[in-house]
Amino acid sequence: MSAMFPLLFSPFELKGLEIKNRVFSTGHDTDLCRSGLPTDELIAYQVARAKGGAGLIVIQVVAVHPSALYTSEALQGWHSQIVPEFKRLVDAIKVHGTRVFVQLFHPGRELASRMNGVVKTAWGVSSVPSERFRVVPKTMSTMQIEEVIQAYVDTGMNLVEAGVDGLEIVGSHGYLPAQFLSPVVNTRNDRFGGSYDNRLRFVQEISAKLRAQVPSNIIVGARFSGIEFDEAGMNDDAMFDVCRDLAPSLDYLNVIGGTSASNSGSIHIAPPMTIENAYMSAFSGKLKQALPDTAVFVAGRINQPHEAEAVLKAGGADMCGMTRAMICDPQMPSKARANKPDDIRACIACNQACIGHAQLGLPISCIQHPESGRELTFGTLPEINRAQNILVVGGGPGGMKAAAVAARMGHNVVLAEQSSQLGGQVKLAQLLPNRAEFGGLITNLSRELTQSGAKVQLNLTVTRGFIEEGQFDHVIVATGSTIELPVFENDGEMTVLSHEQVLTGSKTGTNVVVFDWRSDWVGIGLVEHLVAQGCRVRMAVNGICAGAAIQSYVRDAAIARLNVAEVEVTPFARLYGVDEDTVYCMHTASQQPIVFEGVDTLVIASAMMPSRILQDELDAADIAYSEIGDAASPRTAEETIFEGLQAAISLTGSQPS
Ligand SMILES: Cc1cc2nc3c(=O)[nH]c(=O)nc-3n(C[C@H](O)[C@H](O)[C@H](O)COP(=O)(O)O)c2cc1C
Ligand code: SF4
Repeated sequence: MSAMFPLLFSPFELKGLEIKNRVFSTGHDTDLCRSGLPTDELIAYQVARAKGGAGLIVIQVVAVHPSALYTSEALQGWHSQIVPEFKRLVDAIKVHGTRVFVQLFHPGRELASRMNGVVKTAWGVSSVPSERFRVVPKTMSTMQIEEVIQAYVDTGMNLVEAGVDGLEIVGSHGYLPAQFLSPVVNTRNDRFGGSYDNRLRFVQEISAKLRAQVPSNIIVGARFSGIEFDEAGMNDDAMFDVCRDLAPSLDYLNVIGGTSASNSGSIHIAPPMTIENAYMSAFSGKLKQALPDTAVFVAGRINQPHEAEAVLKAGGADMCGMTRAMICDPQMPSKARANKPDDIRACIACNQACIGHAQLGLPISCIQHPESGRELTFGTLPEINRAQNILVVGGGPGGMKAAAVAARMGHNVVLAEQSSQLGGQVKLAQLLPNRAEFGGLITNLSRELTQSGAKVQLNLTVTRGFIEEGQFDHVIVATGSTIELPVFENDGEMTVLSHEQVLTGSKTGTNVVVFDWRSDWVGIGLVEHLVAQGCRVRMAVNGICAGAAIQSYVRDAAIARLNVAEVEVTPFARLYGVDEDTVYCMHTASQQPIVFEGVDTLVIASAMMPSRILQDELDAADIAYSEIGDAASPRTAEETIFEGLQAAISLTGSQPS
C-alpha cells in the first residue's frame, strides 16, 4: 500500500490471477533477441523491471509463423528451443513476484524490414497496399488463414509450457488481426470478410482455440488501437464496437492508439512529448464504463505515477501501461510505492534511444538511463580500489552523469560549471516550441547529482592553476561545444542570426529563411518559434526532409505541424551565400542553385564545434583526462550521457593516477 498512490499499488485480480499492483510494462521490441530466442541480455533487462516493482510484464512480440518474421531477430514461436529458453526468461522475472504475459504477433502487410537481404512476401488479409512501408501483400488463402490461426495456438501453447501467465493477441497498430477488422483493408468475401461479423472472426477463432487448449487459469487477452489516427483507418466509434463485441471472447482488452500503416498513425506507436499524458484513457474509460465486468488496460504517455493514479481514480482502466517510464527508470514502481516520486527519472518521450534504437535494429536503451538494455555491462557499479579526487569540467548532461556516477562509486567529485546553471545545451533545447519536456533531463540529472554527493561549483571557470591546486587524480572534460556558422558568401546587408541568438531573444525581420544544417529538432523548433511570431518562414534543409536526423515518430509529428502552418520546406540544401534580400543555396545532389528572394533575415541552425581550450592546457600540463560528449565531437544528449557513464565507470582506481 502506498500513501500517495493507493490505487496504483492495490492488487488486481484477473480471472483468479493476482497482480500485485496496477503498473505494467506493455509489450515492446527490445532487439535483445538472437536467432529467434531470448538472450541473457533480455533476461537481465526484464529482471531489472521486475526487481523495480512492475506488477506485470508483457514480453515483446513473438512471431507465430514464418510469414510473421518482421525482422531477422524476432522471437520465433515455433523454434525448437523456444520452451526452455523462454522458461529461463519467465522464471527469472517471476522470482520477483511479477506476472508475465507475452504477445502473439503477426504483422500481416506491415513488414518493415528485410530478411537475408531481401524483402519478404507479406501475407495480407487482402492485397490492399500499406502506405508507410509501400508493401503490397499477397492475399492469404482461407487455408493459409487457418494455418496462421493454428500457429497462434501452437505458439501460445509453447509459451504456456514455458510458464507465462497470459497470452496477448496483438490486434493493435494495424497488424494482421487489425487488418481483418478493417473494412478498408479487409476486402475478402469468404467467412473472414465481407460482413462485420466475418471481420471479427479471425480474432474470435484464435481466442476460442487458445481457450480450448490452454489450461483454464491462463489469461487470453488482446491489444487494440482505440483509434488509428488516420483518415483511412478505424475511428474510435468503429473500434468501440469492435472492442465491445470481442470482449466476451477475451479476458482483458489492452488499449493503445495508432497504426503502423501510415505516418500519422505510426506516431502513436510511441507517442512523442507533444502528445498529452494518458491520452487514450478517455477511450479505455468509455469501454470500462460500458463493460464493467471486462478488465481494461491502457497505455500511452502515462509517464508518472500521479498520471496513472489519476487514470485509475477516474475509472479509466484497471491497469496502466508505463513502458517508457520503466525503460527510463526500472525502479519507478518501487520509488512511487515508497512515496518518493521526486526520485523518479521521468521519461520525457524523446523516443531517441528506445524506439529510436529499435528502428535502427539496435538494442533498446534510454538517453537518460544508458544502463537500460546494457544491464549486463552497466547494471552494477564496479568496486573501486581507492577513492580518487575527480574533477568534472562542464555541467551539461554528460558532465552531470559522469559526476553523479563517479560520486556514487565512492570518489570525491567536484563538478565545475562556468555558468550559473546546470544543463548545458539542454537549457536551450527546452526553449524550442513543443520541446519543453526535454528540460526534464536537467531535473532528473540534478536529482541524481544531489543524491550522489558530488560537489557542484557554479560560476567557476576552471584554469590549469585550479586543477593543479586541487590535486585532482583525473579530469573529465565535458565542456561541450560552441556554434560555428558555416562559411558562405555574405555581402553584409542581411541580418544573419544563429539559432542560439534567436532562441535567446534576438529579433528577426518578418521574411525569414531558416537554413537547417543539422536537420534535427533545432531547425524545426526555430521555424515554429518564428511562425508563432507572425513571420513568413521558409526552410532550407540539409537532408531529405525536415528532421531527417531524428526518430521518425517525433519527426513526422513535427512535419505535420510544419505542413499545417504552411511552411515551405526545401530539402537537399547547402547554404551558398546571401545578398541584400536573397538567400542562395545549392541543391546538394544536383549542384543546381536554389534561390529564396524577398528575405530580410537568415537564421542558421548550424553545426557545433568542440570547445578545446581546456584539453590543450591539460595536454601541455600532462594531466590525465578523458573527454566526453560534444567536447570530443558534437553529437546528441544520448552520446554525452552515455560517455559520461563510461568515463565514470572506468575510474576504478586501479589505473595510475
Ligand atoms: C522500443 C519500443 C518498442 C515497441 N514495440 C512494440 C511491440 O513490439 N508491440 C507493441 O504492442 N507495442 C510496442 N511498442 C509500443 C509500447 O508497447 C507502448 O504502447 C508505447 O511505448 C506507449 O506506451 P508508453 O508511453 O508507456 O511508453 C513499442 C514501444 C517502444 C518504445
Ligand atoms: S529514450 Fe527518451 S523516450 Fe525513450 S525511455 Fe528514454 S527518455 Fe523515454
